[in-house]
Amino acid sequence: MKKILFVCLGNICRSPAAEGVFLDLIKKKNLEKQFIVDSAGTGDWHIGERPDKRMLQAAEKRNVELPSNARQIRQEDIEHFDLIIVMDNSNFKNVYPLASTEVQKRKIRKFTEFASQRGVDIVPDPYFGGQEGFEQVLDLVTDCSEGLLKYCLGFDEK
Ligand code: 4NP
Repeated sequence: MKKILFVCLGNICRSPAAEGVFLDLIKKKNLEKQFIVDSAGTGDWHIGERPDKRMLQAAEKRNVELPSNARQIRQEDIEHFDLIIVMDNSNFKNVYPLASTEVQKRKIRKFTEFASQRGVDIVPDPYFGGQEGFEQVLDLVTDCSEGLLKYCLGFDEK
């Protein structure tokens, strides 16, 4: 059993998308029982909210459900989850101080480490942009989810 927490700023765009896409991937591969998947934000502005409508729409077109309601990351999450997967450098900077041991610090990883192509550094924040940004986030989190799953199953050294 592996426990994975996806983290972004607001927990209404990127991390709920990552959570929904990863859940969809493991469902299709009949691996649901091997994972606990959740998402959280570093900020508190959207606590309790469903994902952004634009992200819900983009996900629906791909038949991907986004089950989350926004919540803020807590210190206990770092102990509870095996991997804390952040979307950008700012998320990393905000989450890192919550880790109190070396083991906990090593759990915090950028999602783009698992991208199929080199040179992809962050999952960009789509909140203040147009609909195409939401599509790009879904493309990128789909690619990174495949890499992350391989890593979790031990097929990929990273
Ligand atoms: P997310 O996007 O971090 O991908 O959920 C954002 C959502 C809300 C805000 C910023 C980014 N905001 O400023 O409220």
